[in-house]
Amino acid sequence: MPGVSGLGTGCWAVGSLLILLAAISIHQEYSDPGELPRMEKDLQKLQEEYRQMNKSCFILGASGETGKELLKEIVQRQLFSKITLIGRRKLTFEDEAYKNVNQELVDFEKLDEYPSAFQGHDVGFCCLGTTKAKSGEAGFIRVDHDYVLKSAQMAKSGGCKHFNLESSRGANKASSFLYLRVKGEVEAEVEELDFDRFSIFRPAVLLCDRQESRPSEWFARKMLVPISYMFPTAYSVPMTTLVKAMLNNMMLQSDKKVDLLENKAIHSLGDLGKQEGK
Ligand SMILES: NC(=O)c1ccc[n+]([C@@H]2O[C@H](COP(=O)([O-])OP(=O)(O)OC[C@H]3O[C@@H](n4cnc5c(N)ncnc54)[C@H](OP(=O)(O)O)[C@@H]3O)[C@@H](O)[C@H]2O)c1
Ligand SMILES: *[C@@H]1O[C@H](CO)[C@@H](O)[C@H](O)[C@H]1NC(C)=O
Repeated sequence: MPGVSGLGTGCWAVGSLLILLAAISIHQEYSDPGELPRMEKDLQKLQEEYRQMNKSCFILGASGETGKELLKEIVQRQLFSKITLIGRRKLTFEDEAYKNVNQELVDFEKLDEYPSAFQGHDVGFCCLGTTKAKSGEAGFIRVDHDYVLKSAQMAKSGGCKHFNLESSRGANKASSFLYLRVKGEVEAEVEELDFDRFSIFRPAVLLCDRQESRPSEWFARKMLVPISYMFPTAYSVPMTTLVKAMLNNMMLQSDKKVDLLENKAIHSLGDLGKQEGK
C-alpha cells in the first residue's frame, strides 16, 4: 500500500535525522571552541571607518540565496566604493540602490580567460555552490571545488587581499561524505594560496525562504523549527545572521591570517549589531 510505505519512509527519515542530530551534537560539544569575538568599538563607527577606505569587492554566487542576501546588505550599508558581481548570467535589479553594481559575465569552464573580471578588488566573497542532486557528483565537484579554487586563484592574482569563503558545517577533508570532504579540501587548497586574510564560514542549515523547491531541505528546515528554538545556535542559522557575520567579521580587524568561523561564532558575530543596539 502506498500510504504505508510512505509512512515508513517518513519515519525512517525522521529517525535518521534524529540520530544524525544526536551525533552532531556530541561532536559539537568537543569540537566547537565557542569563542566569542569581542566588539571593541561601536559598530556604526567601525562601519563609517570602513566606508572611508573606499574599498572594492566582488561577489561570486550573487544570484544564489546567500549571495543575494549578502549583496543586499552590502548595498544597504554602503560599505564599498565598488561592487562587482562575477557570474555566468546577468542579473537585473529593480532597486535604484543597485545601479552602480558592476557585473562581469564569465565562463566558469575558462576562468583563465577572464583576469580582468577579478582584477582590482580588495575583498572577495564566494557563495558559489550546487548539490549532487542538482548537478550530479561530477557537477558538484566541478562547482564546489574546481570553480571555487580557480576563482580564488584568479582573485589572488588580481590583487584580492581578503577572501571570504562560504563553506559548510562539518567540512572536513578526511570525511567519508563527499559533500563534507569536497568542502574541506577546497578550504585547505584556498588556504594554501596565502591571502593576506582568509575567512572561512561554516554555517549549519541556512534558514531562509528558498525560491527553488528542494523537498528534502524543506523537510529538514521544518524539522528544525522546534530544534532551532531550543538550541538556537546548534543546527541552523538565519541567512541574515550569516551575511551580517561575514560583514562584521570583515570590518573587525583580525590579527589572524585565517579565521575559521563555525556556526556558533557566526551567530555571535552576526548578532553583534543587535547586542550593541540594546
Ligand atoms: N543552503 C544551506 O543550508 C547551506 C548550508 C551550509 C552551507 N551551504 C553552502 O553555501 C553555499 C551557498 O549556498 P546557497 O544555498 O546560498 O546556494 P544557492 O542558492 O544554490 O546559490 C548557488 C550559487 O552558485 C551559482 N552556481 C551554481 N552552479 C553553478 C555553475 N555550474 N556555474 C556557475 N555558477 C553556478 C549559482 O548561480 P546561478 O544562479 O547562475 O545558478 C548561485 O549564484 C554553497 O556552497 C552551499 O554548499 C549551504
Ligand atoms: C575616499 O573617497 C572620498 C570621496 O571620493 C575621498 O574624500 C577620500 O579621501 C577617499 N579615501 C581614501 C582613503 O582614499
